[in-house]
Amino acid sequence: MLNWDDPLAGLTPRSNPPANTALTLDLETFVEPAPTPEPLATGARLDSIVPATGATGLENIEMGARRIQVDDKRIINCRADLNQLVPFKYQWAWQKYLDACANHWMPQEINMNADIALWKSADGLTPDERIIIKRNLGFFSTADSLVANNLVLAVYRHITNPECRQYLLRQAFEEALHTHAYQYVVESLGLDEGEVFNMYREVPAVARKAEWALPFTQYLADPYFKTGTPENDQKLLRELIAFYVIFEGIFFYVGFTQILSMGRRNKMTGTAEQFQYIMRDESMHMNFGIDVINQIKVENPHLWTDGFKVEMVQMIREAVDIETQYAYDTMPRGILGLNAPMFKEYLQFIANRRCAQIGLPEQYPGASNPFPWMSEVLDLKKEKNFFETRVTEYQTGGTLSWD
Ligand SMILES: [Fe+2]
Ligand SMILES: [Fe+2]
Repeated sequence: MLNWDDPLAGLTPRSNPPANTALTLDLETFVEPAPTPEPLATGARLDSIVPATGATGLENIEMGARRIQVDDKRIINCRADLNQLVPFKYQWAWQKYLDACANHWMPQEINMNADIALWKSADGLTPDERIIIKRNLGFFSTADSLVANNLVLAVYRHITNPECRQYLLRQAFEEALHTHAYQYVVESLGLDEGEVFNMYREVPAVARKAEWALPFTQYLADPYFKTGTPENDQKLLRELIAFYVIFEGIFFYVGFTQILSMGRRNKMTGTAEQFQYIMRDESMHMNFGIDVINQIKVENPHLWTDGFKVEMVQMIREAVDIETQYAYDTMPRGILGLNAPMFKEYLQFIANRRCAQIGLPEQYPGASNPFPWMSEVLDLKKEKNFFETRVTEYQTGGTLSWD
């Protein structure tokens, strides 16, 4: 019988084959078959064993149960069957799923030849420009894996709505594409992959942001963590704000701006185009997260206390300081018409928007946008294929368009 309090108890970890094993060996020899879980007793339901407040989608089928009504659906702590996508309650979630699918792209379709030539030419880039490229590849290559792991291992379990989960599944795939894109750039340029992928444990400026975010997701990924109390529901809300509003909504923007600035100056245009597609995806991830956060607030107003709001404001202000420091660390001298104080202003401008989007007071009165072209890049309805290097168009419909 599976122990539902500790589902891993009694399972034997797979043993690795000896390092010098010939490739032709049958792997089955080395992998112990996982024990088959015993079925639950007839009539037993998961909720009688696990005191979860929200459904998981893995409960026993209840024959003849009442059909799901729209009003049964809730973003968190919902008991309605999660395997039935319709009837839709949250049209915005379904629409974002459709929009995301309509903007499918693959990293290897972007032409990297000009980047390879420029990177290999001795005087093609300044040392400061090379640092910016490497630091950002270092940050993003692991940051997107962290976001994906957070989605799959932490957030997904606690979002009890099928249309939101449908978007989360799409987002998780996009995060995989982003990690793929960074790997593809590293490989194309012939960079030292060990140096790039280890930066988040070797370069403090890169490590700091991941270190800041990890504790939030560690709470939710704990197999014993369950929503359903005000305290734990606030932990979930805090985590969503940490990842969607801050990590994807603030911590990505110095790097995006630096790399896209290079593209605007006709340098590293393939890399910049990869980042442009990624930024388009990230913008939608953040907007989805903001919709989820606001809907949780509507359905659970008791979570949005004055004390919680003060705490969230402090989190956002701290994030602005951390990302400003990242700008100084990656750009000790001004280049490309950019300098660190401009990023400080830009981050304050962004933070004001993020606060407004989730119903918090603006924190930096008068902050303006020193990079108005970034909004144009994000406003994809206006912007046709920014660097015009892409060979394939995937757009198949939906509301976002490059035209
Ligand atoms: Fe991503
Ligand atoms: Fe993302």
